[in-house]
Amino acid sequence: MSLRILALAACAAAALATSVPALSQPAGKLKVGLMLPATGTFAALGNAIENGFKLHVAEQGGKLGGREIEYVKVDDESDPSKATDNVNKLIKRDNVDVIIGTVHSGVAMAMAKAAKESGTMLIVPNAGADAVTGAMCAKNIFRTSFSNWQPGYATGVVAAQKGYKKAVTITWNYAAGSEMVKGFTEAFEKGGGTIAKHLTLPFPNVEFQALLTEVAAQKPDVVFSFFAGGGAVKFVKDYDAAGLKKTVPLMGTGFLTDGTLEAQGDSAQGVITTLHYADGIDTPRNTAFRNKYAVTYKSQPDVYAVQGYDAAQLLAWGLTAVKGDFAQKDAMYFAMNKAVLSSPRGKLAFSTAHNPVQDFYIREVKGKENVSVGIAVKALADPARGCKL
Ligand code: PHB
Repeated sequence: MSLRILALAACAAAALATSVPALSQPAGKLKVGLMLPATGTFAALGNAIENGFKLHVAEQGGKLGGREIEYVKVDDESDPSKATDNVNKLIKRDNVDVIIGTVHSGVAMAMAKAAKESGTMLIVPNAGADAVTGAMCAKNIFRTSFSNWQPGYATGVVAAQKGYKKAVTITWNYAAGSEMVKGFTEAFEKGGGTIAKHLTLPFPNVEFQALLTEVAAQKPDVVFSFFAGGGAVKFVKDYDAAGLKKTVPLMGTGFLTDGTLEAQGDSAQGVITTLHYADGIDTPRNTAFRNKYAVTYKSQPDVYAVQGYDAAQLLAWGLTAVKGDFAQKDAMYFAMNKAVLSSPRGKLAFSTAHNPVQDFYIREVKGKENVSVGIAVKALADPARGCKL
């Protein structure tokens, strides 16, 4: 080959090299669809998730992976019957790139189905429906919160360790309640306990009186419960007012007392829960997050705020890996699956089914805080039953 041809070849290679980044330059804003409850018993939870997500975006100067973020919002009202229409507004009408949502497991399952069918990226910042990272798992679906099985199982471990033998469970009759109860039952029975009775009421009802009478009649060693948001506030107060708090210890997944302590007051004191977050995690990362959140929103963050914050961190991780080029979907999903986030809860890694593998804290309500008093289970991974990825 002559020198001239070599030089020409070198020029062509150089031109190609410079044209590659030009081709993969991030284009325009990234459209993020926030599908969260803005009304109903979970409204405060949706608000905390949105605050957390936006806090991380703001910390990055309004951009993730070099892409400016634009928001479109839908209030899903925690209503599964409206979920398919609501998620299709984001996918088909608004043409969003990513969906962040939601709180309610029944709504999340409809969202996962639509995301799987359309190929739209979905990051779930709360809803624990086991199927989302189980039978319905998909390469474009991620979760930064938990599966319902996880906190249920962790609470069952602690209840058995405390020596309780006979439990009554009480919850709303929908996926989150039944799956958390299932997780609790699995661990509690493994630890030598038995369940005397499973009590339920329809979501989002809060008429607990008849069920509390039944709890008293059963005389169990412990009660396991899942309620959240406004429903959790009323349940913990009613449990106390019925005189049960003095006779039967109340336990639950941490949602029972997270973001609710201000309203629950004395009724919540001493309640033991397990969760993947606690108020008193004494790390520079958690302290910085809590201070920033409190200054920005004039309120204290809770587990929902953390999960929203981490949803933004996970999206940022994927976008950064492809330098903002959202078209490189497979490379982005691959990076997100391998992500290790610096979460306020601690280091956050994901299973192959895209669900967090995380420590579960034992928490006790002291004053206005869910104080960590130990670890229930370290690096607990959901069994991801039915997931093929
Ligand atoms: C759920 O429906 O999956 C759910 C709702 C509220 C929580 C936790 C789980 O606090």
